[in-house]
Amino acid sequence: MVSSLCYLIFPVILVMGLLRKCRESTWGRCQSRTPLQGRVFLVTGANSGIGKETVRELVRRKARVIMACRNLQSARDVVAEIRKDIQTGELIPMELDLSSFISIRHFALEVLKTFSEIHVLINNAGVYAPLKDRCLTKEGFEIHFGVNHLGHFLLTNLLLDRLKESAPSRIVVVTSKLLESGQIDFSNLNAEKGLSAKGRMNPGYCNSKLANAYFAAELAKRTENTGVSVYSVCPGFTYTGLFRNVKRSWFHYVLFSPVALMFLRTANQGAQTVLHCATEQSLENESGCIYRDCKIYEPKKKLDPEIADRLWSVSNELINVS
Ligand SMILES: NC(=O)c1ccc[n+]([C@@H]2O[C@H](COP(=O)([O-])OP(=O)(O)OC[C@H]3O[C@@H](n4cnc5c(N)ncnc54)[C@H](OP(=O)(O)O)[C@@H]3O)[C@@H](O)[C@H]2O)c1
Repeated sequence: MVSSLCYLIFPVILVMGLLRKCRESTWGRCQSRTPLQGRVFLVTGANSGIGKETVRELVRRKARVIMACRNLQSARDVVAEIRKDIQTGELIPMELDLSSFISIRHFALEVLKTFSEIHVLINNAGVYAPLKDRCLTKEGFEIHFGVNHLGHFLLTNLLLDRLKESAPSRIVVVTSKLLESGQIDFSNLNAEKGLSAKGRMNPGYCNSKLANAYFAAELAKRTENTGVSVYSVCPGFTYTGLFRNVKRSWFHYVLFSPVALMFLRTANQGAQTVLHCATEQSLENESGCIYRDCKIYEPKKKLDPEIADRLWSVSNELINVS
């Protein structure tokens, strides 16, 4: 009985392992190995998931990294964790809460005072909150729109001149393939009329990821010929803390496990396209593109330049009024 079970189980494990390896080979890895000594990187949401792995790989290559985190203690814990095996580079934890314009302005002032150069800004932080919780930012914006889009919009604009002075420089905006399910509805940008869940997707999150892509596209246009390049990145479906606020039952995990085995990346695998866009020299002339699996990705939803321009103007008004 036991031996017949073994005959059944081992081939299944072997086949699944091989399938996983095949999938992993399609995800791509950052091939750039250029030492990053003297280069200053700023990573938002650097204490967890994709941000943390991005930071780890950057200091391995001797970069100076500002870790912009809303929980300073958590950032310090990550510094201690990384320092257990990597001694190179510099890790500078700083406090930034993207759900507060005051915190963003304070953080940007500190950064501008302390760092005469910023070479790469990585807008990685992100929140995914259940719609029923109706979470808002300090200024009363819907949490996904406020943190994922407006917070980074303000931060980037406050640091943009320093990035221009430090050219050649880069801005990497972490979006998601879920942008394809998003909508930019100017009559309901801040979910004033509520958000109805389409299927299993969280429309607030999807809309904010579409806003990220529009922001990056418009930023690329507005920074043409300034030496600043802008890249949007979809890291792929990755095992991180992003969905920590979503309650799931045990059978969901059982049903989900084969999908996870085939499609779920480790945080380090999720960080590869971010690293590729942040450090690969051959991308210098590719500003404005979206990347996934370390190559250009054409989203099913075409980005409309008029929406990009209008979203920029509206966002600009919102950050100034607030
Ligand atoms: N995981 C995926 O499958 C996936 C797929 C596509 C795109 N992405 C994108 O990848 C990026 C990184 O997410 P992740 O998957 O690595 O998730 P994660 O592990 O939850 O990391 C998100 C980071 O954002 C930070 N953050 C959240 N709200 C913040 C705020 N108000 N101010 C400052 N920082 C804040 C979190 O800080 P705390 O630890 O303090 O909460 C955390 O460090 C996000 O932009 C996400 O949308 C993820």
